Amino acid sequence: MKVLLILGFLLLSVTVQAKVYSRCEFARTLKSHGMDGYRGISLANWVCLAQHESGFNTGATNYNPGSRSTDYGIFQINSKYWCNDGKTPGAVNACGIPCSALLKNDITQAITCAKRIATSSQGLRAWVAWKAYCQNRNLSQYVRNCGV
Ligand SMILES: *[C@@H]1O[C@H](CO)[C@@H](O)[C@H](O)[C@H]1NC(C)=O
Repeated sequence: MKVLLILGFLLLSVTVQAKVYSRCEFARTLKSHGMDGYRGISLANWVCLAQHESGFNTGATNYNPGSRSTDYGIFQINSKYWCNDGKTPGAVNACGIPCSALLKNDITQAITCAKRIATSSQGLRAWVAWKAYCQNRNLSQYVRNCGV
């Protein structure tokens, strides 16, 4: 019982650790990781995508009943193709990481995986929210006053 309680608190402390980035902090972090212009994609596209996918919350998870997969983290990266959560049928893990790595406050691994997705044939079209809210839009507001 005691062990379970301690385990419970450990899990709780992991889950409540999630960080919500501000728009500009996120933009600056992306820039420091070489995302501005990566594969011809501007920072504003990534900021728009993350705002509509997760609200810049590193702890965001969303289950997709149809594919029995889950979207993880600030970029809402899917466990069917990109990461391993040990419970998604037919998963591929193309980024070669546990999905939990996508929930860290430090988004370095999430960025590396997002780049990998951007390099795939789908590109940003892999993200439903990008297609719905960002594709072919004027995105200048997303990086406004960020100094990037
Ligand atoms: C995009 O919107 C901003 C203001 O929101 C405006 O200043 C700018 O000219 C627009 N760019 C284009 C290409 O329409």
